[in-house]
Order: sequence, then structure tokens, then C-alpha cells
Amino acid sequence: MEGNGKTVSLERYDADTAYNLEDFDCDVPHLNEFLSKKMCKEARKMISVPYLCVIGDTKVVIGYFTLSSGSIERDYLTPRPRKEVPYSTVPCILLGRIAVCKSAQGHGLGKRLLGKAIQQAIVGSQSAGVFAMALRAEEHNWDFYKKAGFIQSNSGDRTTFFYSLRQAEQHI
Ligand SMILES: CC(C)(COP(=O)(O)OP(=O)(O)OC[C@H]1O[C@@H](n2cnc3c(N)ncnc32)[C@H](O)[C@@H]1OP(=O)(O)O)[C@@H](O)C(=O)NCCC(=O)NCCS
Repeated sequence: MEGNGKTVSLERYDADTAYNLEDFDCDVPHLNEFLSKKMCKEARKMISVPYLCVIGDTKVVIGYFTLSSGSIERDYLTPRPRKEVPYSTVPCILLGRIAVCKSAQGHGLGKRLLGKAIQQAIVGSQSAGVFAMALRAEEHNWDFYKKAGFIQSNSGDRTTFFYSLRQAEQHI
């Protein structure tokens, strides 16, 4: 990836790497603080796996997302996928957080991060059952996920979005 003439790469968080997190500002305080205050602990405890988008060798972080395993209620699925799941809960990879630095927003990085998150969910699904990637989103971000092909729950919790991995494999 190239961004403003600089090489940008996406990597799984590595506890031994000195990342530059100081200037990260996505305009959402708890998503900024996650990087400096919680990421390291969550990763160590294997609660979530963070993926960081960094600029070259400087390791300046300009975007990130986190993945965890989890489930959603089958009722949150739309009718067609709901028929495919014979249990009351649906095994998922959860996209816990996603954020792009203000200075990099609006240039397609968020969409690339979502694509990578789905790819990682597909990798995970090769060793354990994963029906979909799921997430919860605030209303002002709903169109971001809809544009990326996520389906909004039309029953239960409307803040839940999912992307079935079969859908992803067909897309690939
Ligand atoms: C939401 C966020 C990750 C999007 O990242 P981004 O790099 O700005 O998004 P992209 O440039 O990849 O946008 C992809 C598409 O979604 C649209 N989009 C981006 N953010 C959007 C939003 N909040 N609402 C509606 N559409 C949005 C873009 O216009 C673009 O549309 P296009 O393909 O028609 O051009 C970023 O704005 C962000 O970090 N926000 C603050 C943190 C946050 O709210 N995280 C999400 C928590 S649920």
C-alpha cells in the first residue's frame, strides 16, 4: 500500500515492536485510548487480536482493528441466513474496534481494514466454525458498513451488522 508517497503496511500487533501511538487521533476518545492503555493487555490475555496499519519503518499507527471470537443471536440474522443456522446462537468473529486516524480518513483505508478483517476471519474459519463476521455500530457509521456489504440486523438489535463468510468467499 502507498499513502502520501509513504509505504503503509498492515500487521498483526507484535508486543516486541515499538509502535508510535502518540499522535493517533480518530476523533473518538475511547478508540484512541484503547491503543495506549488497553491494546497491549488485551493482546497478552488473548482477549482480542489487534491489527495495525503503520507507516513504513517509523511504525506510526494510522489505523487499526481488533478481532475476537464470539457469537450473536440467530434472531439477529436476516431471514435467508437465519434458515442456514440450526442453533440459537451463531458462531462469529467479532470486529470489536476499527478506527482510522483523522488525517487518513476518507481515502479508503477503513474499507481496506474491513477487507483485511474479513480475510482474517476466513483464515480463522479454517480451524473452527465461523458463520459470519459480526460487529456493533453506532448509527452515524451504519452506511460505512452497508457500503462494504455488511447486512444490518432487521430484528433484535439494529446496531448489529454481519457479513457471512460464504458471502465473502463468493465475493473473492
Ligand atoms: C469509520 C472509519 C473507520 C471509516 O474509515 P475511512 O478510512 O474514513 O473510510 P473509507 O475512506 O474507507 O470509506 C469507505 C466508504 O465509506 C464511506 N464512509 C466512511 N465513513 C463513513 C461514515 N461514518 N458514514 C457513512 N459513510 C462513510 C466513505 O465515504 C466511502 O464511500 P465510497 O466507497 O462511496 O467512496 C473512520 O471514519 C473512523 O475511524 N471513524 C472514527 C472511529 C469510528 O467511529 N470507528 C467505527 C466504530 S463503529
